[in-house]
Amino acid sequence: MPASLSKLTDSTRSSRSSLMTCRSLRGLRSRRGAPLPGWGWRVGAGELLALATLILLSGCAPRDDGGSDAGMAAASARDVHSFARPGQVAVEHLGLNLEVDFERRILIGRASLRLRAGGVADELVLDTRDLDVERVTRDDGDGAMGVEADFALGDEVPFLGRPLTIAITPATEVVHVDYRSRPAAAAVQWLAPEQTAGKRHPFLFTQSQAILARTWVPCQDTPAVRFTYDATVRVPAELMAVMSAENPTEKTADGVYRFRMPQPIPSYLLALAVGDLEFRSLGSQSGVYAEPEVVERAAWEFAATEDMIAAAEKLYGPYRWGRYDILVLPPSFPFGGMENPRLTFATPTILAGDRSLVALVAHELAHSWSGNLVTNATWNDFWLNEGFTVYLERRIMEEVYGKPYAEMLALLGRQDLEATIGRLGPASADTRLTLDLAGRDPDDGMSDVAYEKGYFLLRRIEEAAGRERFDAFLRDYFDRYAFRSLTTADFVDHLRSTLLADRELGDEIDLEQWIYRPGIPSSMPVIESEVFARVDAQLAAWTGGTAAAELATDGWTTHEWLRFLRGLPEEMAADRLADLDATFGFTDSGNAEILAAWLDHVVANGYRPAYPALERFLTGIGRLKFLDPLYRRLAATEDGLEMARRIYTRARPTYHPLTAASVDEILGTLTPGG
Ligand code: BES
Ligand code: ZN
Repeated sequence: MPASLSKLTDSTRSSRSSLMTCRSLRGLRSRRGAPLPGWGWRVGAGELLALATLILLSGCAPRDDGGSDAGMAAASARDVHSFARPGQVAVEHLGLNLEVDFERRILIGRASLRLRAGGVADELVLDTRDLDVERVTRDDGDGAMGVEADFALGDEVPFLGRPLTIAITPATEVVHVDYRSRPAAAAVQWLAPEQTAGKRHPFLFTQSQAILARTWVPCQDTPAVRFTYDATVRVPAELMAVMSAENPTEKTADGVYRFRMPQPIPSYLLALAVGDLEFRSLGSQSGVYAEPEVVERAAWEFAATEDMIAAAEKLYGPYRWGRYDILVLPPSFPFGGMENPRLTFATPTILAGDRSLVALVAHELAHSWSGNLVTNATWNDFWLNEGFTVYLERRIMEEVYGKPYAEMLALLGRQDLEATIGRLGPASADTRLTLDLAGRDPDDGMSDVAYEKGYFLLRRIEEAAGRERFDAFLRDYFDRYAFRSLTTADFVDHLRSTLLADRELGDEIDLEQWIYRPGIPSSMPVIESEVFARVDAQLAAWTGGTAAAELATDGWTTHEWLRFLRGLPEEMAADRLADLDATFGFTDSGNAEILAAWLDHVVANGYRPAYPALERFLTGIGRLKFLDPLYRRLAATEDGLEMARRIYTRARPTYHPLTAASVDEILGTLTPGG
């Protein structure tokens, strides 16, 4: 993954190191083996023409004919990251039948794709990557069921995989693909029992965003297409399976689980996890799933979930997905959280024991409106998902915890944004809200810019329009575009014809600059935080020579500590680090955010007493946001690089494929001092 998915990979100011240095090597990772097209055609006379067309098409870049069907992007948008041509025929329902084989680390089964009626195409193009397709059959409406269908897999394209082109007729209703995934499928992590809390059972989870659904389900893998789904999943009887769908709360006797997702979702929200799971209720509409060893702690930590749902519904209208549950995964989960509908996937590193990291729950919950309900039509429009979600997240946090708390989060976000823009360079095209990701792995261009610049744009509009009007605008926006996918241009049109139709307001907000130009816009909202002003005073005292024990830190929570740690000087002598550590116990902190921010200084200053903790952290946690900056720091010196390589040899097999790919790049390419 995304060396530069920096909202998810940068922690503190360490993010200043250039994450762009090894970009060009990302292609190498995915370019491995470009097998010849596996022709599965039984060529009949009438099909020669189709075959010729296919030969021409296979291996080509995706075509520019994304469509504007109902349920798709409001305006037609080209998704450069998908081979699918939903403008011609779109999938409206997926029936998934999977067996989970932990021994061979593969998923075996059938994806049955029901096509929206009225299509005119004579072929259906699906996205696949690292999938072995065994057979394709189709139901042709006229009573002909299970008709053998001709299919071909095109050449491998870096990041995108291979188009699966299936011959259909206008009467075709359902296409069945019999397939299996491969052990290396990038969406799937197979965990050995030692990597779980219980150490007794294996575990599996998927991560489909952005374009990895195609590594475990053949599908139209573009956020412009939505479909409902149902699934039957067979797992070892001692394990429970859960999905981004209606879920069980108990294990079944036979290990067979049936799922139903009645609301249409884009493919990147397909998700599956299998493990020794237990469920605890948090209230009438929410709960947590986790291993038995973790579930009580998780339920305690997330006690505010129902309040968050209530706050979000009050602001943005009804929660449309039925239940909202959270699955706490083992520590190798590469992200903080993933907004899989009905079931947020979360890292256990937010179980701080003091409920101080639950903004992440507010964030993933907020995606139930921004992202899952109204979806970015392409990954170039990613800020429509994440910028809106950060805005909603902070509004939810303000409702539940008050303004000073939300302002701390906003200020930390502002710091992240400045660090990211500083790192990318203020003229970099990747600092624009609308991205241009053609020819790249979408993860490559996703950064704090989408999250924080997006957030500040919405905050800027709120400031200008007034909160009441802006809230009404957003509420209407989620209703009007519910279950649809939008491009940035669609959003801008909508905004200009509603809220900004008011000339004065329109003139006041330089949308053009905010959305289409790089760098920090001139009208950035100003944030003031008295809480952080107090932290800064203590920081100044310590930098001025006051001993740590003399500082006034009583009652500080995670966010004050993060402000403090981020503000420490780059260079510190060992005795000063020891002073901090002896007083505040950073090295022994059970809070992953605090520990990661501290370890950054540890590495930067070669503070050896904390090295064992550093090693434990790097081998115990797979969250990219923490690992990426630490490995980069280490790779900056010869000794550090050697140590990083030694640790990584041990840690790599325990990382998610996304994490491993990212660290491979860092340690394989950065030379000392690089
Ligand atoms: N949807 C993202 C995670 C993601 C983005 C995965 C792009 C793959 C590609 C999720 O909602 C997210 O933003 N997670 C953050 C949480 C944070 C901003 C509170 C994370 O994982 O750190
Ligand atoms: Zn998000």
